[in-house]
Amino acid sequence: MNKALSQAAPSGERTRTETVIDQIAARRAAATAGGGELRIAAQHAKGKLTARERLDVLLDEGSFEEFDAFVTHRATDYGMAANKTPGDGVVTGWGTVGGRQVYVYSQDFTVLGGSLSETHARKICKVIDMAVKVGAPLIGLYDSGGARIQEGVDSLAGFAEVFRRNAEASGVIPQISVIMGPCAGGAVYSPALTDFVFMVRDTSYMFLTGPDVVKTVINETVTAEELGGAKVHTEKSSVADGAFDNDIEALEGVRRLVEFLPSSNRKPAPERPTEDDPKRIEHRLDSLIPDSPAKPYDMRELVETLADEGDFFEIQAAFAKNILTGFVRLEGRTVGVVANQPMVLAGCLDSDASRKAARFVRFCDAYDIPILTLVDVPGFLPGTAQEHDGVIKHGAKLLYAYSEATVPMVTLITRKAYGGAYCVMAPKHLGADVNYAWPTAEIAVMGAKGAVEILHRSELGDPDQIAMRTLEYEDRFANPFIAAERGFIDEVIAPHDSRRRITRAFAALRGKRSQPPWKKHDTMPL
Ligand code: HXC
Repeated sequence: MNKALSQAAPSGERTRTETVIDQIAARRAAATAGGGELRIAAQHAKGKLTARERLDVLLDEGSFEEFDAFVTHRATDYGMAANKTPGDGVVTGWGTVGGRQVYVYSQDFTVLGGSLSETHARKICKVIDMAVKVGAPLIGLYDSGGARIQEGVDSLAGFAEVFRRNAEASGVIPQISVIMGPCAGGAVYSPALTDFVFMVRDTSYMFLTGPDVVKTVINETVTAEELGGAKVHTEKSSVADGAFDNDIEALEGVRRLVEFLPSSNRKPAPERPTEDDPKRIEHRLDSLIPDSPAKPYDMRELVETLADEGDFFEIQAAFAKNILTGFVRLEGRTVGVVANQPMVLAGCLDSDASRKAARFVRFCDAYDIPILTLVDVPGFLPGTAQEHDGVIKHGAKLLYAYSEATVPMVTLITRKAYGGAYCVMAPKHLGADVNYAWPTAEIAVMGAKGAVEILHRSELGDPDQIAMRTLEYEDRFANPFIAAERGFIDEVIAPHDSRRRITRAFAALRGKRSQPPWKKHDTMPL
């Protein structure tokens, strides 16, 4: 008999099975205790939950099935043989969100700072592999000091194994990362390879090299928050898609997001029963567009008015605010929305807006989520800053994303659709299926002022003549009818009837199938 078992079982009192059960309970208690009371208290003092508490918030009550709770590392250097905690700094397994299965890993900062060892990485790889096999979303909760320093290259190899799996799983299962503590060095590349990254304000940060290295190498003094906090990554870098005030709000945000998404690219998005009438008429939309073409209005109001119960889950709300991206439901079914926002930069497209929208369109297409595009765009933002920033390549990303998308696509032009931006914002020519315009739509190469200044340059000294030319141009182009005459617009619809028309259009497109020609993969303008 195993020496440990015979010692642990008081003779004659407990059966061997009972003894093993006792041992399992003791080992489980050790795993659950993580790095111990003091470290857990330190975690709480920072306003952070522990790895297990986070899973309790994320998953439906009682649904968590843990894997590998007894796994320990095999390192021996630096006294590591005597420094083992069951679970090795990451809690893994599966559970349900809203009754649907998800695979999870949650790094435990109380165990060696949540650092990633060879075995810690293997646990993560196991749940990624399971999630792909089963076809269920993967949710990773990050709180880690990065590569486990005592393990050297074994730890680096573990990271690379995770990265490859993140890449392979891309487009197969939705992958969501929540940064809930440090995430530094090469470790940042796992979340960066996933579809959605959420951060917690003030307690999380992501950077390739920390403030100390920054100081040493380029003599710049910067705090961790300034270098890679939630504000930086949601407003400037766009590495993260959303920021939340605390762990609980972030995890509840993930639950909300998961409920919009299909479990995999083999399954449809879940349908949510709704009481909201798909034929709902909204007369306030008839006056949403201001009389003056120079006046802005809030496109978010239109999105929320169209959506079931006004529910709009915005992605990257704080970045490139001149374009809105996010999920709504129509008749209970998930639809991805891309919409120019006239409130910011008059709704112009620029580099940031283009890559934000392109990434979102590609996600929707990968997971068979239909796309609604709401257009009010005066063109691309001009200037050296944009050109030098590569707006040509970034704009091409959006063009590319729409062109390759095969999901049902409905486009509504509410006001301006000028120039190259008309071509980019899901016109019929790029593959949109149903294209509507409001009576207020203006579809032209450019606005009246710019056009008249070019076409009638010789008359610029005569204000009356220019005013007449402007009116002439507006009469000809500041309406949806030329595009409608050519069939580029299928129908000019009344604003108050938009929810009904758009919902019907998506219903009519449910049978859409499209078979692009074979290729190994594209060479999109990255
Ligand atoms: C092993 C680590 C560790 C690590 C932290 N710990 N990071 N153990 N490997 N990478 C341990 C600490 O020794 C400590 O153990 C416990 O975790 C908590 O750490 P503290 O420093 O006390 O916590 P705090 O003050 O909150 O600081 C957290 C921290 C800091 C900012 C993350 O620990 C830190 O800078 N760690 C090193 C980060 C780093 O440089 N990692 C390598 C990045 S490069 P005790 O026993 O005292 O509780 C990388 C390469 C990946 O990851 C490449 C992939 C391609």
